[in-house]
Amino acid sequence: MARDQDAFKLENPWPLIGWVSAAGLVVISVLLGFVVLGRYQQNDPTLDIWGAICRSLGITADSGPAAETKPPLRTPTQIAWTSSTLEQIAAGNAQHGAFIALNCSACHGQSGVSSSSLIPTLAGMDAAVIFKQLDDYRSGKRPWGVMGAIAKALSAQDSADVAAYFAAQAGGLPALSGNRVPESGRSLWERDPAKRLVFAGDPQRGIPPCSACHGPGGFKIGVPALQGQHAAYLERQLAAFAQGIRQNDIYEQMRAAAKQLTPDEMHALAAFYGTGASTGPAEGLPSR
Ligand code: HEC
Ligand code: HEC
Repeated sequence: MARDQDAFKLENPWPLIGWVSAAGLVVISVLLGFVVLGRYQQNDPTLDIWGAICRSLGITADSGPAAETKPPLRTPTQIAWTSSTLEQIAAGNAQHGAFIALNCSACHGQSGVSSSSLIPTLAGMDAAVIFKQLDDYRSGKRPWGVMGAIAKALSAQDSADVAAYFAAQAGGLPALSGNRVPESGRSLWERDPAKRLVFAGDPQRGIPPCSACHGPGGFKIGVPALQGQHAAYLERQLAAFAQGIRQNDIYEQMRAAAKQLTPDEMHALAAFYGTGASTGPAEGLPSR
């Protein structure tokens, strides 16, 4: 019996050959799959053996920073509503501001009530808004040739002073009443599309109600009052936000909303808030 088995083993080497070649195949494929092929990368240099094994197993062995260059961070403005900024604005000296304002009246009108439809009225504008916009023109965050040059000639203290002066002028934008709550009955079922956007927004397009930030009746810090402003100026700003020409709004609050508006809606919204709206079709962006 034992002899028979020995003879069988000697005479039939195939099981052994089978096992050895199966093991050989496994070893070769492991080497190929985990070491050899894993080393080669399409665009980058060949990996070392340990790196190749890790990569093949799906573990990353590269602990260094990614070589890919990241685009530089773009901040919309240099202004943040910190208490020190607010204190600086509150410390503005309106008397000194009146002197500085002599340089503004040629365009922004006597005491800040502008007679040109594309130049904003500054009288009654919140001092924080004036201060921020002047800083944005100065730093180039809101590019507009002439205002950039004028703002560069002002120091931060001058800006606070002139902001205090214009904020205190009457006859322009309405005074802050602090009440931003939409009036009752003005809802998503409102017929007039401009009023609907102002008081209810358009949730389907992600447009918040303008009144939540702009009023009428009050506004958040850093948000310009729109009531009483020139309609043509407002419409142009909406188009500039939508086209990304104006990018100085913190958290893209305005760019996000304006991108969703049609030109007709921009026209209607500017007419709702502003004064002196033309009844003609929506204008494009005039060249600067
Ligand atoms: C040559 C004309 C001109 C002069 C002078 C001028 N401005 Fe302006 N200003 C403009 C125009 C035009 C705009 C709107 C620009 C735009 O579309 O961005 C503007 C915009 C502004 C804004 C932004 C208002 C807003 O609603 O966002 C502020 C603030 C401002 N000016 C302050 C001043 C102050 C302060 C002075 C004087 C130191 C001054 N400007 C002098 C033409 C002028
Ligand atoms: C989440 C708050 C918020 C909402 C909602 C909002 N805005 Fe604004 N809006 C701002 C802020 C903040 C600014 C000033 C941006 C900056 O710092 O330059 C601004 C600026 C503007 C300006 C430029 C005014 C000027 O004097 O230069 C216009 C026009 C305007 N918004 C219209 C609208 C309209 C129309 C809606 C509704 C569809 C709307 N906004 C909804 C926050 C808001």
